[in-house]
Amino acid sequence: MTIESASRRRLLQGAGAAVGSLLLPLSAQAAARFTIGDTDFLLDGQRLQIRCGEMHFARVPREYWSHRLKAIKAMGLNTVCAYLFWNYHEWREGRYDWQGQRDAAEFCRLAQQEGLWVILRPGPYACAEWEMGGLPWWLLKKPGDAFLRTRDANFVQPARRYMKEVGRVLGPQQITHGGPILMVQVENEYGFFGEDLAYMREMKAMLQEAGFDVPLFQCNPTNAVVKSHIDGLFNVANFGSDPATGFKALDQVQKGPRMCGEYYSGWFDTWGAPHRRGSAAGAVADIQAMLKMNGSFSLYMAHGGTSFGLWGGCDRPFRPDTSSYDYDAPISEAGWMGEKFQAYREGIKPYLQPGETLPPPPPQNPVIAIAPFGFKESCPVQAALPAQAIKAASPLPLEQYDISRGVVSYRVTLPAGPAGTLEAAKVRDLAWVSIDGRQVGTFDTRYRRYSVELPARSKPVTLEILLYTIARVNFGVEIHDRKGLHGPVRFNGQPLENWDIRAIDFDADAVLPPLTWKKGRSAGAAFWRGSFDAARTGDSFLDLSGWGQGIVWVNGRCLGRYWSIGPTQTMYLPGPWIKAGHNEVVVLDLTGPRSARMAGLKTPILDQLHPELDLARPPSKVKPALDGVKPAHEGEFARGSAVQDVKFAQPVRGRQFCLEALDAFDGKSHAAVAELALLGVDGKTLNQSNWTIVYVSSEEASKEDGGALNAINGQATDYWHTAYSKGPLPKPPHRLIIDLGADAEVAGLRYTPRQGPDSVTGRIRRYRAYVGTLVN
Ligand code: GLA
Repeated sequence: MTIESASRRRLLQGAGAAVGSLLLPLSAQAAARFTIGDTDFLLDGQRLQIRCGEMHFARVPREYWSHRLKAIKAMGLNTVCAYLFWNYHEWREGRYDWQGQRDAAEFCRLAQQEGLWVILRPGPYACAEWEMGGLPWWLLKKPGDAFLRTRDANFVQPARRYMKEVGRVLGPQQITHGGPILMVQVENEYGFFGEDLAYMREMKAMLQEAGFDVPLFQCNPTNAVVKSHIDGLFNVANFGSDPATGFKALDQVQKGPRMCGEYYSGWFDTWGAPHRRGSAAGAVADIQAMLKMNGSFSLYMAHGGTSFGLWGGCDRPFRPDTSSYDYDAPISEAGWMGEKFQAYREGIKPYLQPGETLPPPPPQNPVIAIAPFGFKESCPVQAALPAQAIKAASPLPLEQYDISRGVVSYRVTLPAGPAGTLEAAKVRDLAWVSIDGRQVGTFDTRYRRYSVELPARSKPVTLEILLYTIARVNFGVEIHDRKGLHGPVRFNGQPLENWDIRAIDFDADAVLPPLTWKKGRSAGAAFWRGSFDAARTGDSFLDLSGWGQGIVWVNGRCLGRYWSIGPTQTMYLPGPWIKAGHNEVVVLDLTGPRSARMAGLKTPILDQLHPELDLARPPSKVKPALDGVKPAHEGEFARGSAVQDVKFAQPVRGRQFCLEALDAFDGKSHAAVAELALLGVDGKTLNQSNWTIVYVSSEEASKEDGGALNAINGQATDYWHTAYSKGPLPKPPHRLIIDLGADAEVAGLRYTPRQGPDSVTGRIRRYRAYVGTLVN
């Protein structure tokens, strides 16, 4: 028997048998085994209800892939859904990597061995809270702020080349070739992003040319299904509540089985915001509802894992994601199968297809505590910078210097003179400004704070800006996220010239630069070295709560970024990456630890916020004084969760926009908004890249993340919600003020209500909208 037929037989005994199909002669299997019928997915002519769960192999140590796949199967799922992240496989243009942790074909083979089908989502764009949504940074060497995810040759050509490579590697894994891949997704939620359906046709053709011959599909949030539909491409809807509305949207565009492409089991965390949770009871009820409606689903996530290395992404406008991608998913970051897992398993069990049984969950991997150990050696970042500097008249974005990401020092001489303001055109992401080694301020892209006050100088001084890139935005047009200090950099209006730029480029795998260790502490940004001895190996959670902000490596492997503002305070250290005996830990801390010690805990800490440890935040000077001010519009939103466009009687010009919520459909005193966009005179939405929230009358910040930023991050699933868990309940009117970054002509607004059934709290009924310019 050939290897291929052996693996086919395994498949039939596994996933195939799971749907009650008989062992077919090999000749019959060569025909299209998987098709999309009018009401069902069909496997060998039999109805297949897809019960799928998402897991990203890049976020799980390879040694644990089988363990997690077994857990997915034991939860009652028959399919695993996986993104490919283009930048993970082509970090340097033209150099592809499919080895080890990146071995996507092996992941498919293991899934097949476990009796799971695979749904593949190769991009080119993915999203997924992954650096730049999976797009490679080097695309940004080309000019323009709107060419990614369009038909521009600077995007399409490299994407096509990559997709061909994906076809070469994963084409043989399709069911049509004896592998487990049933369906392949084209792009990702394009309806959230653009309107050019010809682009979607081109992306679809690209996959076909690359050799994908199984059914293709696209996914979109419920609200974007209808507008994004193209002929000949199957649709699935993404949502975290209200399956009936999601399925109804699908019925409007096609005759076919209904499927939720991403059902949110929880949600991702961002630094500085409360840890997110997803309700198991709510999810199980929705899953059962979908199964009863003969629907299929894919859980996002079944198992989230960890954004190891420097792969974590960043939400828009700029909210970097934590390294933990636990997601509050039913299978935890470390692969634990707790109560939530049980609830899903029990909930799905009654809906298995004839002949199917649930295998027992795999045993949990061992966990170890690591006794506290110290970091007795350090190396200042200054000493780790390359000797050779790039000379620049005025700093360009880092991509122009072929620097992918890292820590960058910019130096310039500042002549003697009076105090004044230092201002850069843009700073991505955080930077510490110092004069002759003394820190004088910070730049912080979260608040678009690109200026710092400098003191008077009696002699020329060295001005240094030490910059740290956190992650490229993975969502919205903000994916055009060029890093570094963007010139001109001016002092009192005069451009500063002749810069020396030195960078530690961590490259794809967060490679450490050569470091020379000295005993004892180093002040400011520094690398630190410590070690621990392990008698036995096992998973552990390194406690970083005494440190500032930076990156951690164990035995040369990068665990990810940490930031003591939380909510994540620990870092998942997988057992297979620990050695029995001596283990070396290196930390890069940008601000310096409060205590240069660390320990390994047996449970993670994912939910502790410490805003007091953050960089100084500029105080908000805004106090709305709207009494007597004429609103640009006053009205009532329609009931329900659909997106609504409102046109003002006439366009109004201003720099700020204020939404004032007067009451809610549920009669309670809360307000909630999933998304707010503004319409220009051409009827199109205004660019939101420079928007910031300058005032919110109230936001929920402990029970859940009801932060106002959720109203302008482009995601319909999360929302701004007025506070309810602490203190007296705030009464309407509730106000949210957005600074648009520049004056704009506003002709209307696009409102996305909080999603979910009509019973959700806070859906606004009566409201007023103001456009104007705040006076201090
Ligand atoms: C969207 C994307 C996913 C992911 C989720 C949020 O639905 O398609 O890639 O980013 O949002 O976790």
